Amino acid sequence: STVRIIGVPMDYGANRRGVDMGPSAIRYGGLGEELEAAGIDPVDAGDLLLPRAEERDPDAGQPARGNAKFLREIEDVCTRLADQVAETLADGAFPLVLGGDHSVAIGSMNGSSREGDLGAIWFDAHADLNTPQTSPSGNVHGMPLGAVLGRDVFGEMPWAHAPGVSEESIAYVGLRSIDDRERKLVRDSEMTAFTMADVDERGMTAVVEDALAVATDGTDGVHVSLDLDWLDPTAAPGVGTPVRGGVTYREAHSALEAVSRRHEEDGILRSMDVVEVNPILDERNETAALAAELTASAFGKRIL
Ligand code: ARG
Ligand code: MN
Ligand code: MN
Ligand code: MN
Repeated sequence: STVRIIGVPMDYGANRRGVDMGPSAIRYGGLGEELEAAGIDPVDAGDLLLPRAEERDPDAGQPARGNAKFLREIEDVCTRLADQVAETLADGAFPLVLGGDHSVAIGSMNGSSREGDLGAIWFDAHADLNTPQTSPSGNVHGMPLGAVLGRDVFGEMPWAHAPGVSEESIAYVGLRSIDDRERKLVRDSEMTAFTMADVDERGMTAVVEDALAVATDGTDGVHVSLDLDWLDPTAAPGVGTPVRGGVTYREAHSALEAVSRRHEEDGILRSMDVVEVNPILDERNETAALAAELTASAFGKRIL
């Protein structure tokens, strides 16, 4: 099968510059070779073109209510990304989106859910369910799920709200950092939230199998969103919002291997993004290399 790599060097949604270099770092980290080792034929579509954040006013596109920095720029990028993802699927290829901060998932998921209902697995330390009205930071990388679900002011933004994505088909895996206001949002939602405590108690593969059951039930495909801060900072230091007590190197591989096993059975995977790699904060590109390795595990690379 053909995997089309789409780079999105976007840092508008994060509080730190550097995550815009994620796509190059992941490519240098060996993504192409890793995918080939998994028996995949990768085609690199290159990067979307984005103006540098310094050339833009973060407050120029503020929503009618709340705080969301660089929202106008994020709308432009996510609209173009959604079109590319939808086109990739129409061509019969698999869209693999390299971030960039996690706001790129708004574009990936909008594109991927255009022609069908989309479930999602959210591998992340964070819930990313804020909206401009609840966000403590105004950083849109903490809001992609709020956006695709059309919550609050996002309900008035067709580029953000993806009607083909519904709460009951979303599963979090590995949560451990949730804002005070966001905690109630997660609790009151229809989403399934597996925290690090669930991973500790039940083991990673059991949790991921349950997450896959949630994301595949009644949907036409699954989006995997892999935020590298899901891992413990000892394994993935190159991220802007690290949180202690994360997933280990081995747990991460077994999680993505569980995804690929299910994909081999019944072709559930529809799209994927790999986000939040920040080479400025990294140690010798190890987080980017890990992102490449984990992606290959999702596409079926095995030890033997
Ligand atoms: N919850 C915090 C916020 O809304 C942090 C979000 C971090 N998200 C991420 N994709 N790294 O600002
Ligand atoms: Mn995230
Ligand atoms: Mn995160
Ligand atoms: Mn909706």
